[in-house]
Amino acid sequence: MQKYITTPIYYINGAPHIGHAFTTILGDVLKKFEQMRGNEVYFTTGTDEHGQKNQSSCQNSGLPLDEFLKMRSDNFRNLFDKMDIDYDYFVRTSSPEHKAVVTEALNYIWNKGLIKKKSYEGLYCEGCEQFKKPSDLDERGFCPDHQKAPQLLTEENYFFPLEQHRQWLIDYINTHPDWIKPRRFAKEVLGMLAEPLDDLCISRPKSRVWLGVELPFDKDYVTYIWFDALMNYISSLGWKPEGAADIRFNEFWPHCHHLLAKDILKTHAVYWPIMLKALGIEPPEHLIVHGYWLGEGGIKMSKSLGNVVDPYEVMDLMGVEPLRFYLCNAMSLTGDSQISIDLLKQGYKQLANNIGNLQMRVLKMIAKNLDGKVPSPAALSDKDKALLENLADTFARIYRYGELSLELVSELSAEILKAGDAVNAYFAANEPWVLAKDESQKERYEAVIYTTLDALRLIAAAVYPFMPQVSEKILASLGIAGKPSAADFKPQQLKAGTQTTVGAPLFPYIADKPAA
Ligand code: MSP
Repeated sequence: MQKYITTPIYYINGAPHIGHAFTTILGDVLKKFEQMRGNEVYFTTGTDEHGQKNQSSCQNSGLPLDEFLKMRSDNFRNLFDKMDIDYDYFVRTSSPEHKAVVTEALNYIWNKGLIKKKSYEGLYCEGCEQFKKPSDLDERGFCPDHQKAPQLLTEENYFFPLEQHRQWLIDYINTHPDWIKPRRFAKEVLGMLAEPLDDLCISRPKSRVWLGVELPFDKDYVTYIWFDALMNYISSLGWKPEGAADIRFNEFWPHCHHLLAKDILKTHAVYWPIMLKALGIEPPEHLIVHGYWLGEGGIKMSKSLGNVVDPYEVMDLMGVEPLRFYLCNAMSLTGDSQISIDLLKQGYKQLANNIGNLQMRVLKMIAKNLDGKVPSPAALSDKDKALLENLADTFARIYRYGELSLELVSELSAEILKAGDAVNAYFAANEPWVLAKDESQKERYEAVIYTTLDALRLIAAAVYPFMPQVSEKILASLGIAGKPSAADFKPQQLKAGTQTTVGAPLFPYIADKPAA
């Protein structure tokens, strides 16, 4: 089966932070999960390089345009590379391939008579790069997201009418209740659709915004940034209006899962499906929407408050894999989530006490007493067998039926921690260090060790999407080479006699940094 997973493409006017890191990590985790169950995945991320904000930022930098765009886009690509993100395509909206698709799509919609020109007077928020209705503003008349009063602008522009598709979209959402996950966001979108939809202004005069894709039917204008940016999801698949035999689009659309935070719900859940409809393309299979990461104190991260979490600082402290696991495990399913270096350190300690501790104690013990060889499972008790069966069944069920969603990464990461706790408790309760000293208990000793090792194997396979290197290191220490797959979730697969090795600690102690 084919799966297409996308992240939003990020604005390059600022530096990448933990929020951008999260959505991209989530995409990579879901990709690895799908690959473990044998599906073919195409995963894209990238940068949104047009529009007024990027334009102002470029002007302030004093750099030549191409150099500025590449440098800023590379800031994102370098972070994602450092985080071992296995993207298949990194889209840049300034690339000729992407611009060609936007141009062709605009021509197609124009030729169908779906775009009209009119004069418009409205309140324009530069931060949102959108005209605002008075009802979008707060009591001071400010844009709530940008804390600024929008400017009154009168302009001739091109518009794409949306209202005629509103009922279709309402019906689509009602008949596809899982189209937007989690469902509370589908409700929010239905709320947006309760009122008639204004025509979408899809042009910006070049006199104001020159950084964009020129309208093919009027060279005095560039395309509205969102009309351009959303097209990345089909330009990345090589879409052409007339179709073609050899394009990825045929293989991967509509098996598409767009990942995004709630800030860009309207563009993805209202504008995008209507744009696709105009192009004669089916809606994507799912939108997976998450809340925000907030800084310490539950407030928006900001440099002046000193509560920004820098992904590079976290990676220097603990490496990328514990960060990946923490973000997927700690993201709230019902609202926003807080993040700080202290919370991340707690998450790291939890992993060290859980999986790290389990691996170290069992492998050290058999290195000492069994020459590091996996013992025989011949004398496993019913309880030992039940422990392994339960773990294998839990992971097999998730890998078999799990649907790409936040719930999935939350459940899987929680089950991994639960399994680690259960197996540590089993190990402690069975006191193999006492059994090891009593020759008459040899069979029982071997059964406890075998059960612990096979449980560790199951946990290591399950953790792969979050922490691929940790997973492969544990499996290698159990004498198992290569990547795990969903077929591994069966009990008692570890072969007796296999040589194990202790290796370095998976989660070494990290000292508290001295106060700055
Ligand atoms: N360029 C548009 C997206 C176009 S997609 C066709 C844009 N860019 S952005 O740089 O502002 O990125 C927004 C996205 O970054 C969010 O939807 C989310 O995926 C991620 N996040 C940015 N800050 C975040 C948090 N504080 N918390 C969680 N995710 C956040 O909008």
